[in-house]
Amino acid sequence: MDTVLSGIRPTGDLHLGNYFGALRNFVKMQNENNCYFFVADYHSLTTHPHPSDIQVNVKKILSQYLASGLDPEKATIYVQSDVPQVAELYMLMNMNAYIGELERTTTFKEKARQNPDNVNAGLLTYAVLMACDILMMHADKVPVGKDQEQHLEMTCKFARRFNQIYGVEYFKEPKAFNFGNNLIKVPGLDGSGKMGKSQGNGIYLIDEDKDIRKKVMKAVTDSGPTVENSPKPEVIQNLFTLMELVSTPDTVQHFDNLYNTCQIRYGDLKKQLAEDIIKAVAPVRERIKDIYNNEEYLNRVAAQGAEKAREQAAKTVAEVRHIIGFK
Ligand code: TRP
Repeated sequence: MDTVLSGIRPTGDLHLGNYFGALRNFVKMQNENNCYFFVADYHSLTTHPHPSDIQVNVKKILSQYLASGLDPEKATIYVQSDVPQVAELYMLMNMNAYIGELERTTTFKEKARQNPDNVNAGLLTYAVLMACDILMMHADKVPVGKDQEQHLEMTCKFARRFNQIYGVEYFKEPKAFNFGNNLIKVPGLDGSGKMGKSQGNGIYLIDEDKDIRKKVMKAVTDSGPTVENSPKPEVIQNLFTLMELVSTPDTVQHFDNLYNTCQIRYGDLKKQLAEDIIKAVAPVRERIKDIYNNEEYLNRVAAQGAEKAREQAAKTVAEVRHIIGFK
């Protein structure tokens, strides 16, 4: 059984792109793997120094995860800051991370440029902390997007270096896992590509029905086909791609025929699309609200996850201390 680990920084709400993309896969994976899903709140401190905001966001992510089908009885769902062993491993791993390689990290350079007044040491060692999350649980597979691939390569490098310095084969090198064909890429509503890429192109799991209608009706289209059976331009294909996720095949076929015969009215398509998105999102949204307001349940889930995560973490840190030579 493989160990799968995924972390998410609590910086925003989840959208349809997350839901039909990674989350769908997580929900399946938790049945066949030893899964860890955690909220990386320590990582947020590198850019957002006030935990009060972070804590609300942690609660939001947890309720959105649970409402989407992540199951605390199948997977270990935890909050990074509930596992103090992470800090110790991070300190130890920092001894073998070199300033030069950290300064060359793309995300570090980008964030330092965006926020020149807060180029802190935590930001510099972001990749070390992330490596510790992964190595702590001896993860085999780490689902990551393109923007995190370099961090994963660095994790492998830190693992190899540790093994080499201490003459052991202790840490295994995790594999970046991108779901292959199982990852549905959900387009945004403004024609700019993936959902979530730019502000305002996304539909969030917490959106109310009227917000969804408003957003879909405002989606970018063109002036319509004038030649029968012409290929669909990207903005139009995007709407059809969304429709394929939420509507029945008959509905998709119906609008496809109208498109191919140049009779389509985008207003009608959008109305249908909005209603079908609502059908998919509304039950999730209501579950999110119930879970979010059930403080007792959320605390219980977090405590249960923390206990399981700490058990593995304590074992790893004890072994690492022993390997380094603290007796
Ligand atoms: N850096 C990741 C991101 O920004 C979040 C993260 C932290 C993570 N630790 C991790 C992801 C460990 C995977 C594994 O999205």
